[in-house]
Amino acid sequence: MAESIKGLRRTCRCGEVTEAMIGQEVTLMGWVAKCRNKGGIVFIDLRDRSGIMQIIFEGDNERAGALRSEFCIAVTGIVEKRGGAVNTNLKTGTMEVRAESLRVLSEALTPPYPVQDGIDTREDIRLKYRYLDLRRPELQKKIMFRSRLVALVRSFMESEGFLDIETPDLIGSTPEGARDYLVPSRVHPGCFYALPQSPQLFKQLLMCSGFDRYYQIARCFRDEDLRADRQPEFTQIDMELSFVEQEDVMDVNTRLLGYVLNRIPAIYEELGFDKALADAARKAGEEIAAHGIEKMTWKTAMDLYGSDKPDLRFDLPIRDVSETVKDCGFSVFTGALNNGGYVRGLTVKGQGGMPRKKIDKLTEVAKTYGAKGLAYLAYGADGSIKSSFTKFLTEDEVKNLIAAMDAEPGDLLLFAADSYKVVCASLGALRLELGRQLNLYDENELRFIWITEFPLLEWSDEEGRFMAMHHPFTMPVLSDWEHIDDDPGSVRAEAYDIVLNGCELGGGSVRIHIDEVQEKMLEVLGFTKERAEEQFGFLLTAFKYGVPPHAGLAYGLDRMAMLLTGSDSIRDVIAFPKVKDASDLMIDAPAEVEKKQLEELGISVTVPEK
Ligand code: AMO
Ligand code: AMP
Repeated sequence: MAESIKGLRRTCRCGEVTEAMIGQEVTLMGWVAKCRNKGGIVFIDLRDRSGIMQIIFEGDNERAGALRSEFCIAVTGIVEKRGGAVNTNLKTGTMEVRAESLRVLSEALTPPYPVQDGIDTREDIRLKYRYLDLRRPELQKKIMFRSRLVALVRSFMESEGFLDIETPDLIGSTPEGARDYLVPSRVHPGCFYALPQSPQLFKQLLMCSGFDRYYQIARCFRDEDLRADRQPEFTQIDMELSFVEQEDVMDVNTRLLGYVLNRIPAIYEELGFDKALADAARKAGEEIAAHGIEKMTWKTAMDLYGSDKPDLRFDLPIRDVSETVKDCGFSVFTGALNNGGYVRGLTVKGQGGMPRKKIDKLTEVAKTYGAKGLAYLAYGADGSIKSSFTKFLTEDEVKNLIAAMDAEPGDLLLFAADSYKVVCASLGALRLELGRQLNLYDENELRFIWITEFPLLEWSDEEGRFMAMHHPFTMPVLSDWEHIDDDPGSVRAEAYDIVLNGCELGGGSVRIHIDEVQEKMLEVLGFTKERAEEQFGFLLTAFKYGVPPHAGLAYGLDRMAMLLTGSDSIRDVIAFPKVKDASDLMIDAPAEVEKKQLEELGISVTVPEK
């Protein structure tokens, strides 16, 4: 039977008991993590969010003996030096509490799986009982870290004069970007709100209103395919500034990151994270303080790393050999070049002896990114050559190719011949795969980079038109603007991403505040005047009343918390995440609703047959 908490006060948390408190009486409350009954002496590991304290019940204690895992209890007792072996894994491992009284606040069913770190219970089961999973120290630590991270961000933003302003969650649908989540209106049958994909338009309106520095920890909703770093609802650290240029936004954000990195080592230590994380943060923070954050153009990133979010913890650049092989006898190479493509490759140091089977596996990786194959040249340490294509080349051509690849005996050369897009995508993916397979990087290093000068537009085969790469309000590089008609794809944008260890942490841009440029941009994106008015009329009108030049950026908070806690998935830093098919396994959402609700909304549902 559950007992009342009446008259009882918790004096501190389990992990807050220190040796200075030896001899004092404490009252602790928490969950039974472990119970051992040793000949009448009952040992309990009591867990709360701060840690674990060993409780010892002596004498014939029937009630203590009846405790089971996950019972919620209160214990009053005296802090003592531990009688038995010291537990060096626990910060409270030198102490125990000799219980004087016990209250069972509530009993617990046997949990569906042990509430412990390092278990291999399937994730869907753990997510169904997420509230139990969240009791695990590992997850508790991460959720607490996230809270502290947000507090740091807020304190920096406030100190820099940013105002926290909320924007609405029930807004209108906009066609650009990902698919919207729609919310039907009861009052306006047949009409729908959309949940915001980001506060983008509202923060721009706030600039029009004169708030000049805005930020928000904002929930965003996007109906897109889920991945390890994507959730249908997620959180942005969103900001916008007036009267600034790109450099100003990058500067304030470089300082924000430096501020966070300098302060999180103390949080890691307090929460008991691996020391390697604190060391990495400290190092990255010092690097930023001394040298800022490196910048790289989009074109350089694509050319050298095949990705607009390069992982620079290791080198392994892509090399272009198009010129070197343009007249060779290998039709795979010349064919691609004649089609306007490229021949590029990777020089994998010291892997000249890689078995054929492994090369075949790498070929499969390249193929999943559209490559038609992967030509290889294994340059033996003894100078011998094994290759899938050198038989089509003269001796000199092989020599020149090796020189162009900066290769030495013992290296493995891998080549893709295809369009720019496919060469970048396949070699970029291969580079990451090799980085992982060959342990080319330190997992704990934090390597930031700004990527700048993104293309303004991106061709969509699906839509048969150019789409905004960032969004329709992104300012073009004005010196490129004259080519908007004759070569739209060549126009660069004043857009920038902040990348951490190969993950897009955040992105932003300078916005268009020039009428004619905005009109032209919408025209290029295929908007008629009417449709532009319908979709963004409020913004375009607002801009007619004295819009300040403005720019901004948004981070994925979940991604930031994931990378800074060394997690593999953003699910680890979200208290109640969704799974791959965007459902919540615990509350069983989405779900059908009552007919009456649908009728009120004037909605009839047609479920497609499977
Ligand atoms: P963008 O669309 O690049 O820009 O989003 C900004 C950042 O949000 C994070 N992010 C996500 N995180 C988790 N799950 C998702 N589904 C997801 N989608 C995006 C990423 C990304 O870098 N309004 C602009 C910003 C601006 O221009 O100021 C915007 O939303 O880390
Ligand atoms: P094939 O002529 O198809 O036998 O291919 C000879 C070699 O070239 C094999 O190693 C293929 O994997 C490779 N290969 C085929 N297509 C490409 C391509 N587009 N780029 C690079 N290598 C390719």
